[in-house]
Amino acid sequence: MNTNIDNLNSVPKPKIFNQSTIFVEGWYWVLPSQSLLVGDIKSVTIFGKDLVVYRGKDRRAVILDAYCPHMGMSLAKGKMEGNELRCVLHHWKFDAEGICVDIPNLDEPVFLKAKTWPTAEQYGMIWVWTGETPQQPLPFVLDWENQEFDISLGSQFNISCHPHVLLLQGIDTQQINLVYKLPLKMVLEKQELNENAIIFNTITNIHGKSFWLNLYRRFFNNSVSYSVCYWYGSTCIVSFANESTHLHIIFTTRILPGGKTEGQTLLMSKKRKGFFGKLTNKLILKLGKKISDRLLKNNDRILQTMQFDFKTPIKADLSIIQFINHLEQQKPLRWESWLLVRSREREKEVVEERQKREKWRDELVND
Ligand code: FES
Repeated sequence: MNTNIDNLNSVPKPKIFNQSTIFVEGWYWVLPSQSLLVGDIKSVTIFGKDLVVYRGKDRRAVILDAYCPHMGMSLAKGKMEGNELRCVLHHWKFDAEGICVDIPNLDEPVFLKAKTWPTAEQYGMIWVWTGETPQQPLPFVLDWENQEFDISLGSQFNISCHPHVLLLQGIDTQQINLVYKLPLKMVLEKQELNENAIIFNTITNIHGKSFWLNLYRRFFNNSVSYSVCYWYGSTCIVSFANESTHLHIIFTTRILPGGKTEGQTLLMSKKRKGFFGKLTNKLILKLGKKISDRLLKNNDRILQTMQFDFKTPIKADLSIIQFINHLEQQKPLRWESWLLVRSREREKEVVEERQKREKWRDELVND
């Protein structure tokens, strides 16, 4: 094969791809919006970090570190007061920015801030950015930024392999052709959208007779454009489209301890007007759920015994190599601390923060 461009030799040993204690800075799903009502406080663990997510009276979702910056009580045990959260142990109160706004029996609260994380809500999900300031948008469907769409929540899933290995199945053309017995001739073209997003496209003809192919044909006629867009190596949007029909399946994932996958599927279709339009979209979204559930079931069965080791790439593996190379250029964060790998600057900042806190504590004791 031509290995001059985008070859794996430039990444002899991946530092991000398929690693169980490293992940890319980005937007990650937290919870379905509907599972967090006004006044709810829930604990979640994402990439080894314990977090609390709550929804105040203003309906805004807020995410912060799970333990109270006073003495470490779990803030998930606290109480909501309007848009603020009161710790259950000594009743210190924190606002939506994490700032301590009230300490019982003190005229002025001490300056203290619980660590909050950038939070967004879209597609019926709550999302967290795993760094200080979001550098990129939430995953979106290309050319769809100003479009209206119908969306439905698919299934939550657990798969016994790393998210990267699971998600690259969408561009493994050998597997798609052979394992799924789909007579689709695919040649994928890549396009890097930004430093965190890459898309693989093809337009392909549908041949053959089977229940699924007949169903595809019913919705997409004889040719379909197929694309797979990866965001942060962890969310992948698989799109099937022709002039009149669009179906987008979002597989959004996180790494579990040991490098396994937990994820959620979402189905999207361009909004249609009128009774029949709504009915058609309902059918398309239902079909999307069936397709995604089936793909996940098959992949879990196939991948659970795999030990990914890319020893012999061939030309047909080019898209996979491109995906890995794209991933290796992103910002790697450590499991649990969410600190940049080998970032001396950030580590220095953390030490300074700790020293400041200790100094404050000493001053308080000496007063
Ligand atoms: S531990 Fe939360 S207020 Fe003291």
